[in-house]
Amino acid sequence: MTTEQDFIFTASENTLPENASFTWKAPSNIALIKYWGKSKPQLPKNASISFTLDACYTQTTVEFTKSTNADITVYFEEQQKDDFKPKIQQFINRIKEYVPFITEYSMIVRTRNSFPHSSGIASSASGMAALALCMMSLEKTINPTISEDYFFQKASFLARLGSGSAARSIEGPLVVWGTHPEIKNSSDLFGEKFPHKVHENFHNFHDTILLVDKGEKQVSSTVGHNLMHNHPFAEQRFKQANKNLAKLSKVLQTGDLKSFIHIVESEALTLHAMMLTSDPYFILMKPNTLEIIQKIWKFRAETETNICFTLDAGANVHVLYPEKEKEICNKFIVNELIKYCQNQHYICDMVGFGAKQI
Ligand code: PMV
Repeated sequence: MTTEQDFIFTASENTLPENASFTWKAPSNIALIKYWGKSKPQLPKNASISFTLDACYTQTTVEFTKSTNADITVYFEEQQKDDFKPKIQQFINRIKEYVPFITEYSMIVRTRNSFPHSSGIASSASGMAALALCMMSLEKTINPTISEDYFFQKASFLARLGSGSAARSIEGPLVVWGTHPEIKNSSDLFGEKFPHKVHENFHNFHDTILLVDKGEKQVSSTVGHNLMHNHPFAEQRFKQANKNLAKLSKVLQTGDLKSFIHIVESEALTLHAMMLTSDPYFILMKPNTLEIIQKIWKFRAETETNICFTLDAGANVHVLYPEKEKEICNKFIVNELIKYCQNQHYICDMVGFGAKQI
């Protein structure tokens, strides 16, 4: 079994390059079985699985320069952003035990997202994944003998320390994070590609993201996760998620779209039910979130299509549908759902295959 120890690296001073620069593009992901509730250090209370996305990504360049003062400069979309520094600094502090050589460098981080900054789409998963990959490229330069598997596994391990769901933003198209008896090699420490052959019904699956509310969330996911401690339904929820993952694993292999819809929508509503029943309670859905859900249910009943929805920790709705039904679903989205989006904004995305070095 892989343990934290396997990810500790020690490099001798004279093998470190003076300068290096790496650029990675890392995707966002949307969970089908939700991770909500963790213990330290960023270990999930249940296993989760997500579709890796394609159009929503973060592209990050890190320029490393050997230096005695390991300072960080951050540019977001070409503008220097000092308020991004604490988050990156915190990430570095969490990972430096595993990549100690990074403390020998000053870093210039240049980052941008493919999606608008204030879209309500969390950039922490793709952002932390892209940063982790840049760190791993430096490790690979120092130690070229590391295998490709180790490279991506450790990138996921490091990304997880930045933001839990970032562990699932390295590879694609389906990634499991969290130990699960039915998923070989699954681990709480890093994401693993779904190990089984996926039925063609789920190839090129679409995710149209309806931007219902682009504002800052009232309750951050850090606070939300913490409220799962002492939550009256937490233990049941963690068990349920693991059971749902076992069911979904079969569904993904058999192509049973009806069961897929049932599990995925139930997971989305259960995630929000955990928020509604936290103490203090909170609601991240907006009236238009519910309008969209009702419209999807009505359309599905009328057309017998396999369109469904999921939600992340916010008001936006991810509308999921198979490649075969994209014309009819797209038409429905444009004609009937876009009006519920803030400024009619939405993003057409689909399942992707993981991060790429640029
Ligand atoms: O990675 P975090 O701490 O932002 O948590 C993400 C939680 C959800 O998006 C709601 C669910 C998930 O599994 O991605």
